[in-house]
Amino acid sequence: MAHDYNQLRSLAVRVLQGSLDLEKACQDLAAQDASWMWDVCAGTQRWRGRADYLLRPLAKKMPKGFVLECLRMAIYQKLGQDRSVWPKVVSETVTLVHTNESEHAARFVNAILRRLELKEGDGAEYWSLPTWLWDQLCLERGVEWTRAFAQSCLERPVNTTVNQDGSVAVFQGIFHGDGFVQDISNQALVQEVIALQPRHVLDLCAAPGGKSLGLVQGGMTVTATDKHREPMLRSSVGTKVRVMGWEQVWADASLFADCVWIDAPCSAMGLIRRHPEIKWNRVMLDVEALVKVQTALLAQVWERLAPGALLVYSVCSVMKAEGEAVTAQYVPIKEWLYAPHLTGGDGMYAALMRKPA
Ligand SMILES: C[S@@+](CC[C@H](N)C(=O)[O-])C[C@H]1O[C@@H](n2cnc3c(N)ncnc32)[C@H](O)[C@@H]1O
Repeated sequence: MAHDYNQLRSLAVRVLQGSLDLEKACQDLAAQDASWMWDVCAGTQRWRGRADYLLRPLAKKMPKGFVLECLRMAIYQKLGQDRSVWPKVVSETVTLVHTNESEHAARFVNAILRRLELKEGDGAEYWSLPTWLWDQLCLERGVEWTRAFAQSCLERPVNTTVNQDGSVAVFQGIFHGDGFVQDISNQALVQEVIALQPRHVLDLCAAPGGKSLGLVQGGMTVTATDKHREPMLRSSVGTKVRVMGWEQVWADASLFADCVWIDAPCSAMGLIRRHPEIKWNRVMLDVEALVKVQTALLAQVWERLAPGALLVYSVCSVMKAEGEAVTAQYVPIKEWLYAPHLTGGDGMYAALMRKPA
């Protein structure tokens, strides 16, 4: 059946404008159209800064709303989709704007897209990061590092699933199956914790349960809890992991396990290749509020950690503010930094600490 790209494009614009959920948009679509929709929505978000960078010199006044999203989507198709046919992208975009806006807007879009040039550049907008994140990462990890990170965040992610039997499968696009989706950085970190050979791991921030399940599959004895999402944790791990209530975990003077894992709530700035919308939805103030939560949680756990016990702190963020700066005072024995340009998977920071005996 022929694809109705006018309809698909207008659904995609609604997703990009935030008025339609991507999963809902894909619900009634054929598999191929759903894949197109995921790619175009995620890709446009991933390349949004670059699209604006290229658009800016071509428009006297930067377009807004529907027209801007249509232009960003078309530019993404030119930059990131090998198989799109540019004249077709231009004519479909012009038709869409004509149908939904005006003839004047359609002419404007046509003129912009026909004059589009793929210029080289540098800086936050060119590398498609919000300015606050670019500046903060440059300050924390240097310009070269930030540029390489940003560049790798423009690529499509490779997804892996851990099947019920513990085997790992690689897939692209949408996953419908019995396993759970886990990135390779997560899997690597779970293996690092297994290698420590603890007798009993207490996973304190466990929902939805990816790390707990990985540990159990690796033969570990695990107790999991989650302060805010215990029902979700229970339903996703089923009977495979022992789940306790948050309050119950804190009932004794010291925490009962010889290894406690805090997979702390964080800005998720390590996940922006897979979930590019995150980078545009957060500001530095959000990070600062999260750092307060992370610092307090770590202090609370450290105080109740049994002498000689291990503590693993992790965040799916590459920001030093949420990583090294939070753990420094506990003098980690070991630290890990995962990032798409370094290790291929999601960005994560983790540290291992031991409470003095
Ligand atoms: C990064 S997620 C955990 C992901 C999980 N470990 C996994 O691999 O599937 C962080 C968890 O911390 C919990 N959380 C949020 N705020 C918290 C707080 N102030 N204290 C303790 N846990 C919190 C959230 O409910 C969330 O499930």
